[in-house]
Amino acid sequence: MEHMSENKKNLWGGRFESKISKISQEISESISFDKALYKYDIEASLAHAQMLSKQKIITKEQFEKIKAGLLQIQKEIEENKMEFSFELEDIHMHIENRLTEIIGEEGKRLHTGRSRNDQVAVDTHLFLKDNILKQKKLLINLLKTFYEKAKEHKNDIWAGYTHTQIAQPVLLGHYLMAYFWKFQRDLLLLEFAFKEADVSPLGGAALAGANYDIDREFTAKKLGFSSVYENSMDAVSTRDYQLSYHFFAVRLFIHISRICEELIWYNSAEFQYVTMTDKVTTGSSIMPQKKNPDIAEILRGKTGRVAGSLNALLMNLKSLPLTYNRDLQEDKIYLFDTVKQISLGLEGLIEILKNTVFHPQKVEQNLEKGFAQATDIADYLVTTYNLPFREAHELTGKLVKYCESKKITLSQIKETDLTAVWGEKYTLSLKILNLKECINNKQGTGSTSEKEFINQLKKAEKVLSGLGD
Ligand code: ARG
Repeated sequence: MEHMSENKKNLWGGRFESKISKISQEISESISFDKALYKYDIEASLAHAQMLSKQKIITKEQFEKIKAGLLQIQKEIEENKMEFSFELEDIHMHIENRLTEIIGEEGKRLHTGRSRNDQVAVDTHLFLKDNILKQKKLLINLLKTFYEKAKEHKNDIWAGYTHTQIAQPVLLGHYLMAYFWKFQRDLLLLEFAFKEADVSPLGGAALAGANYDIDREFTAKKLGFSSVYENSMDAVSTRDYQLSYHFFAVRLFIHISRICEELIWYNSAEFQYVTMTDKVTTGSSIMPQKKNPDIAEILRGKTGRVAGSLNALLMNLKSLPLTYNRDLQEDKIYLFDTVKQISLGLEGLIEILKNTVFHPQKVEQNLEKGFAQATDIADYLVTTYNLPFREAHELTGKLVKYCESKKITLSQIKETDLTAVWGEKYTLSLKILNLKECINNKQGTGSTSEKEFINQLKKAEKVLSGLGD
């Protein structure tokens, strides 16, 4: 029979005779990743111990000893003095074991009325809340960056695409603001994830609640939670708050990947719509001329990783019976990674935007090549001659076909070309072919005209001012 070393005794020794096998220990451990929770574990233990003392479940002296011990452990971890080993499985057991080493028998009272099931849940809720608040600031900074860039380019022409084909001219600011609104909705999802994480599971204990007169509202308040889970079985088995964060994360990365994809193409020699500067590009080890948009590419690639983590958690949770099952230990791997990727993604995209120069003058040639004023011509025929739109569409299509065969753009059309295609029946005011004119003819809330765009910026300002700093 193998014995455990005295100081590394696990916490359920009573019923066990031999040690877990090496491979089982390797499978079982989570200390290699959940040590990231130490701060929250200590914070939650302090609140729990204080509640036990307030409720006279432990004495005030015992609480003071526990408190001093926990604070010492926090210091030891921060100073890299804590020894971590697979034998003690996870962060909760490391801290509890060390507490008993430091303060003796009283350390063994900390776990009264609590289980690692509600303990790991409360730690993870705290971890997520903390990180969401930090990321909210980053996301607001991203919104401000889009807003500033859009304002800077409020009069510049940009190319609007559908099907990756030139469609219609738009303002560059309007294009940038399209992303502002997408990311603004992501902020709403992030706020929702925060709300779900803002509920305390502590006191759910193993699954049924505690056999002591505990005060869950007290610990919740002490830890900054707005409320407590209404059902102990729900409290220890749910990972919904994590799912909501992953939903946010994947959608945010979908948006990051879309703009990165566009900027990568726009930065190419074929487009030359933008130049990504040296801060966000890297060279090639073989081709001396290269400046590659690697940062945008890596962010685009990370979308797969973040979506993978959502999928991993979904599969982990599928059909999982209530309440706690050890499968749930894996959740932290996905959560920690996604939290890290989101910070990189947000900071990275801000850096890319700040270090990308837009060249609005480069899009005009492509707009001309793509006959971007065609819809405006059709609309002109509708308004001027009261034609049904389908007829105007047909007439314009013929004009475009004519231009293509003559190898001219719509802007190069002369009166004689119009008569060649349409006879004497219809003509055009040629000024409507001006790209800026096409932009400014757009009407209705949310359109790209300079007038509506100013209104859009005002609405964005209102949103931003409601978000604080
Ligand atoms: N390390 C575990 C986890 O992360 C803590 C909870 C363990 N609970 C248990 N009943 N074995 O999920």
